[in-house]
Amino acid sequence: MPRRGKAGSERSRIAMLHALAHIEFVAIDLAFDCAGRFGADFDSTFADDWVRVGAEEAMHFALLSRRLQSLGSFYGALPAHDGLWEAAEETAHDVMARLAIVPMVLEARALDITPATIERFSMAGDATSARMLGRIMQDEIRHVSAGTKWFVAAANRGGFDAPESYQILVNRHFRGSLKPPFNDSARSQAGLTREFYAALA
Ligand SMILES: [Fe+2]
Ligand SMILES: [Fe+2]
Repeated sequence: MPRRGKAGSERSRIAMLHALAHIEFVAIDLAFDCAGRFGADFDSTFADDWVRVGAEEAMHFALLSRRLQSLGSFYGALPAHDGLWEAAEETAHDVMARLAIVPMVLEARALDITPATIERFSMAGDATSARMLGRIMQDEIRHVSAGTKWFVAAANRGGFDAPESYQILVNRHFRGSLKPPFNDSARSQAGLTREFYAALA
């Protein structure tokens, strides 16, 4: 992975935007994979939700890609890691595992860390990137919300307790523990309440 350079330098901001653009790029595939792989197991509003999420991820990618270009870089200029797609492969067999790990662990984690990232861009005088990330975060709350809604629906259908199932699946499919501090208010706006994740921290 590239070194990020001094905090707030243009090089470090480009590295951060590049890493975020890559996450959005994989998120496009993840959303459409969810619609296609699992959509037939639910009524059509499941696929509608994930197609809408995929369209928003594509818009996020386009915003970040253009921002990189306006800073003299481009998506693909730096290496990127593959962790997000590994999570997709790990959970390809089970919709509850997929929803637990992708929207309810990884996208929820983005809600925890994005406010500090926005602050870093603001401190560096990059209000344009800061505004962009604020707008993306509002959409991401809805993505976590869709994940939680469908996870609870799948748990209810199977007669499982949703928070307990979440804890079992996260322990099975996610390496490492969930790291506080959590953005409890953004998470609870998305319906992801502490009863799901407090026990895993
Ligand atoms: Fe996104
Ligand atoms: Fe998302």
